[in-house]
Amino acid sequence: MSSDRSAQKRNAGRRAADYVQDGMIVGLGTGSTARFAIERIGERIEEEGISIQGIPTSVETEKLAEEAGIELVELDEADKIDLAIDGADEVDEEKRLIKGGGGALLREKIVAYNSKRYMIIVDPSKKVERLGEDFPLPVEVLPKWQKAIEDSVRKLGCEPKIRTYEGEAFLTDNGNNILDCDFNGIDNPEELSKRLSSIPGVLENGLFIDMTDVVIIGKKKGFEELD
Ligand code: A5P
Repeated sequence: MSSDRSAQKRNAGRRAADYVQDGMIVGLGTGSTARFAIERIGERIEEEGISIQGIPTSVETEKLAEEAGIELVELDEADKIDLAIDGADEVDEEKRLIKGGGGALLREKIVAYNSKRYMIIVDPSKKVERLGEDFPLPVEVLPKWQKAIEDSVRKLGCEPKIRTYEGEAFLTDNGNNILDCDFNGIDNPEELSKRLSSIPGVLENGLFIDMTDVVIIGKKKGFEELD
């Protein structure tokens, strides 16, 4: 990652951490931008003595949060999530997102859905006019009967590719596979999301619609907020 890109992500992540208040339950996203927010929350716990509980969206984030000194809680033990902070792979003008580049989309979407406020932190390269032109849509699927599920997804007008890692099918934290689906641009994300969800064996898709409250776009110096 270039140093400019890293500074943009860092500025977005650190800004988001400013919104965390004492006593909050905070959803902790996954990825390189969310990492900056988690580290900054950890600093604030140490410097200001604030007390918060975090709900991580992946095994990777769970480790990072522990290292940062953030107390963790299970979603089922928390009656609400005050604020969730997460990155995204693409964001459009209507704050619709593509997520799942890191494979954490299922837990990320559950946390987003259960959050009072959903804050997205990105660098400027993530802002797009039309979702899915450059970034294939990640879709989490059951590993069993893969070909049948893949064929159903293909019928929606994309070329799905099973994600691999070190020569093997990539496994999510939930033990599932990811199909990266190239739609060459998505004209109607709401409709596509519904159609994907209606395919048996599709466990979740990376379209996050009507969820985002705030987008923070990190700049080389400072940030821009879309509220
Ligand atoms: C994880 O599955 C994704 O949804 C991430 O939030 C997304 O890939 C953003 O990652 P970066 O912050 O590393 O760009």
